[in-house]
Amino acid sequence: MPEPLTFPPAFLWGAATSAYQIEGAVREDGRTPSIWDTFCRTPGKVNGGDTGDIAVDHYHRYRDDVALMADLGLTAYRFSVSWPRVQPTGRGPAVQRGLDFYRRLVDELLAHGIKPAVTLYHWDLPQELEDAGGWPERETAYRFAEYAAIVGEALGDRVEQWITLNEPWCSAFLGYGSGVHAPGRTDPAAALRAAHHLNLAHGLSTTALRGVMPARNSVAVSLNSSVVRTVSDAPEDLDAKRRIDNLANGIFHGPMLHGAYPETLFADTARVTDWSFVQQGDLGAIHQPLDALGLNYYTPTLVSGAENAPAGARADGHGESNHSPWPAADDVAFHQTPGDRTEMGWTIDPTGLHELIMRYSREAPGLALYITENGAAYDDKPDPDGRVHDPERIAYLHGHLSAVRQSITDGADVRGYYLWSLMDNFEWAYGYEKRFGAVYVDYATLARTPKSSARWYGEVARTGAVPSAETGGE
Ligand code: FCB
Repeated sequence: MPEPLTFPPAFLWGAATSAYQIEGAVREDGRTPSIWDTFCRTPGKVNGGDTGDIAVDHYHRYRDDVALMADLGLTAYRFSVSWPRVQPTGRGPAVQRGLDFYRRLVDELLAHGIKPAVTLYHWDLPQELEDAGGWPERETAYRFAEYAAIVGEALGDRVEQWITLNEPWCSAFLGYGSGVHAPGRTDPAAALRAAHHLNLAHGLSTTALRGVMPARNSVAVSLNSSVVRTVSDAPEDLDAKRRIDNLANGIFHGPMLHGAYPETLFADTARVTDWSFVQQGDLGAIHQPLDALGLNYYTPTLVSGAENAPAGARADGHGESNHSPWPAADDVAFHQTPGDRTEMGWTIDPTGLHELIMRYSREAPGLALYITENGAAYDDKPDPDGRVHDPERIAYLHGHLSAVRQSITDGADVRGYYLWSLMDNFEWAYGYEKRFGAVYVDYATLARTPKSSARWYGEVARTGAVPSAETGGE
């Protein structure tokens, strides 16, 4: 019998969600449309024409959802605040009814001994700000800092863990490059401008948060940094890796952690933009001291130079589009990593999580690391007796938690893990078809049923140790 893998006693065991994916109630209490409300209404953009109008109705059921988390044994919960709910249109005064929802949610979490972690931006830009130019416009970064101060002031007394942006890569490159995410634009120059203004928004909002919150609070960002691998060590493949690493990782962690963009990024993207939107002082504003870094990991990325690619290879796993999310990288080919895959088609490879953690231990010495998302979609269905068995998800979690444990043994300062996701929800362009939850949601009744993985993960949270994958959570 293998020994269970024991984690440090203070390690946080959480689950993650985001506002648009779970809340619903899109027209209540003064909320205005976000770019995702608009995108969902654009024919052909979201699978099945699904929308977040109701989602899993968390806005009304948050008490039950918190009770469920407590019942499972979770000690932490990462959620996002909907910008158009607390500052409709992205300007002007806060709407107290919107903020009150988050105050109630946080109080409920604290009453159950669950530590809240707030993400300020998980992709739901107020539509009015997109109409004014969106993330490619500099002004959006200043709007964001103002919004951050509103939320920081309202919740900073009771929420210690703050995350400015979730996966700015997706906001910039899926939102403005490939167009598979809202607002659905396909303009590589706009995508690079968006990336810079998201960086600026991160820096300005970090400063704004610190101005209104107690010093004990922790400020972080959640990056979906790619683990980029190549098919060979041929020079053209290594060059493809370097370029994609710049566009996936260095473009964000460079300015945020080191105060500079990777030198070669400018030359690599010169035919798309001259970067004149980077103004004097921006890098200083972006490069703010952080307390922690959030890493979101699902699968590694495998690239080669175009000459080493089979025709048409572009398996970068981010949805169907004729436009690449990677600016000025048409001569890089993307390949499917070998191995078993989840329902998203993403290859299961826990070694990538270990590699990622160890990389950021080196890139960001002194910063606490949190895995702010990790998980898998499977085609879960209830048995005739109503129970939902998801042994594949348990195996996925087992593999990835073992990788986290190994990283700690290898010296990484990892302080917590947030499973994506607490419950099945609106999976962006895939609609409700992809189920990432540890808790099953019946979309006809919105009833929640913990899957066997939820029980298994709850045991991990309660004992602080990962049992063998075979225990099945029963
Ligand atoms: C991440 C997102 C999250 C969810 C998972 C599957 O990129 O942050 O909202 O969609 O992927």
